[in-house]
Parts: sequence; structure tokens; C-alpha cells
Amino acid sequence: MNRRYIDIEDAETLVLRTDQAPKPGPDEVLIEVDFAGINRADVLQRMGLYPVPEDASAIMGLEVAGTVCETGANVSAFKPGDVVCALVHGGGYASHAIAREDHTLHLPENLSTKEGAALPEALLTVWHNVFHLGQLQPGETLLIHGGGSGIGSMGIQMALAHGAKVISTAGGPEKCQRVRDLGAEFVGDYRGGDLLEQLTTAGYGGKIDVILDIAGGDFVPINLGLAAPDARIVCIGVMRGAQATVDLFQILMKRLTVTGSTLRGMGSVGRAEGFSAIRDTVLPWVRQKTVAPIIDKVWPLADAMEAQLVMQTGSHFGKLILDCRD
Ligand SMILES: NC(=O)c1ccc[n+]([C@@H]2O[C@H](COP(=O)([O-])OP(=O)(O)OC[C@H]3O[C@@H](n4cnc5c(N)ncnc54)[C@H](OP(=O)(O)O)[C@@H]3O)[C@@H](O)[C@H]2O)c1
Repeated sequence: MNRRYIDIEDAETLVLRTDQAPKPGPDEVLIEVDFAGINRADVLQRMGLYPVPEDASAIMGLEVAGTVCETGANVSAFKPGDVVCALVHGGGYASHAIAREDHTLHLPENLSTKEGAALPEALLTVWHNVFHLGQLQPGETLLIHGGGSGIGSMGIQMALAHGAKVISTAGGPEKCQRVRDLGAEFVGDYRGGDLLEQLTTAGYGGKIDVILDIAGGDFVPINLGLAAPDARIVCIGVMRGAQATVDLFQILMKRLTVTGSTLRGMGSVGRAEGFSAIRDTVLPWVRQKTVAPIIDKVWPLADAMEAQLVMQTGSHFGKLILDCRD
């Protein structure tokens, strides 16, 4: 069986190539991919800034949706013909991709595979960092930086479904309005002046229980100022820089927890535990359409470079997707 996939020629050039589709291992499924999600990590990988783990595919792409076409000997939850979405260990920018059985979800019937490709990375990232590490409780207040991102737009909906209050940040009035439309009760404009002042004036100073931070840098002291006593601050990205000034006094006086994670660093067992919780708790929200992926634009697989350049400009809202069908 032939596979079409996107290869990294150099940091500025992506090329469509063909080879033989891989065979699934005993605990894996081979998926004929309809659509693949695009993530920041893919852009960093193309630029040589995201080292690929030794056991991962060197092909970009961390999430896909499509139809199972082959199963490994130990696989019991899926059979050929099942429509699924999955987190993949690389290899998503392709017509065929391998996924572990326990990193694969049956796609709810009311979702297209285009929508399904936007789910695995965002669901697992939000679940692990906001619900597991952040221990967000119903009634608590969550601040999600980057509410218009693929991660943020899903995170807002998931936290609301869980019964939390959500506030957020975004760049510019138009994106701020779209994030409010998703249900955030207040959205600070990080391009619109002092963010700590905006959020404090709005009444959130010292009131935030959980913060999901994709930005780091100068947002770190802002987070510490906004945090409530016993708050949990979870760092998942450094879009404003990996270095920050930290007022330790705030951490000890408010008993703050500052933590973080990467999906790849969770390990396959940790990711499988996350998907198990998602099956039980989050998929019902997706079936009810309480939580729905926001898709900005879809490109043919061969135009992956153009799609990544759009992600780099930051003009999108929600997820960018590749169409991997013939
Ligand atoms: N640790 C993990 O496991 C993990 C997993 C997935 C993603 N991530 C991280 O989460 C972030 C979002 O990923 P994504 O795939 O959802 O990307 P994305 O859709 O491209 O979103 C990027 C977000 O970053 C915001 N942003 C860009 N520059 C900024 C700046 N200078 N200051 C403040 N905000 C800024 C954008 O806000 P505006 O559009 O409003 O300007 C947008 O909300 C990335 O940093 C990614 O690396 C981490």
C-alpha cells in the first residue's frame, strides 16, 4: 500500500513524497487519514527547533482522523472500517498513519473526520494540564491565555462544560470578541496595554484559581499577580519567552503551584490515561456539541507549507487542518 507524506526538505521547504505505508505493531492501528491537524510543534519541527524522539516518526503531524484499515494482533477495541481520531507519534502529515490503540478514539457519529482531526491534541493538552495538573473544580475561575488558539478555543469550552468560570486573553479587539463569543466572561487584549491592569480593573486580581499559560516571559509575573491563594499555574508554551522574573514572595504567601508539561514528555502510558479520562468525561460533551472544534481553514496535504506559514503569521482563529485524501 502506497503512502503519500510530507517530508521536510529544509526549514523553508516541504515536499510531498510517496513510500510504502508502515505496518501497525501489535498494539497499533493503521489509519487511512482523511484529515490531519496542524500544531505549533510541527512548525517548530520544520524549523529544526523541536527534536523528534528516537522512537517517533520523523514525519510531522501529531493528530489525524480517518478510517482504520489494519489492526495489530493485540488490538481489540478497533476493527477495519471504524472511523476514528487519534494522537500519533509523528507521521500525521500523510495519507496513512500509525496510532497506538490506547491513543485512538472512536469518532462520535455527529462529527466529521475534518472536525475529528482537530480534537486529539487539544483535548489531551487541556485535559492533562487544566483538569489533571491544574485540578480545575466546578465553580473555580480559569484563565486561559491565547483563547483564540487551537488549544485555547477548546479549553474555554471544556472548562465551561465542567462548570468553571473562564477568562482569557487574545491579541486585538476582533479576536477578543470572538473569544468572548466562545463564553469567556472577560478577555484581556495583550496588544491593548497593561494586561495585569486590565484584568485587575475588571476585578480578577488575586481571584484566578487555575491559569493555563501558553506564553511565559512577561506573562509570568502577571500570572503570579492574578493568582488566588492555592492557585495552580500550568505552563505549556513560551510564545513570549522562556525566561521570566519570578517574585517568590507571591508563591510562598499564596501557596501557589507552578508546573507544566509537554504531551511528548507525558510518555505513552500517561497519554493513554489521559485518553481514558477523555473517553469517559469529554466525549459526552463533544457528542452533545457542548464542546466543538473551531476550524479556521483546510488546505490540501501538498500545501502544508502554506498552511504552516499562516499559523506562523497568527492570523487564524482555532484550528488549521490538512486534507490528506487523494
Ligand atoms: N506543552 C504542550 O503539551 C502543548 C501542547 C499543545 C500546544 N502547546 C502550546 O500551546 C500554544 C498554542 O498552540 P496551538 O497549536 O493552539 O497554536 P495556535 O493556534 O497557533 O495559537 C497560538 C496562540 O498564541 C497566542 N500568541 C501568539 N503570540 C503571542 C504573544 N506574543 N503574546 C501572547 N500570546 C501570543 C495567539 O494569540 P492571538 O492569536 O490572539 O494573537 C494564539 O492564541 C503554543 O505555544 C504551543 O506550543 C503546548
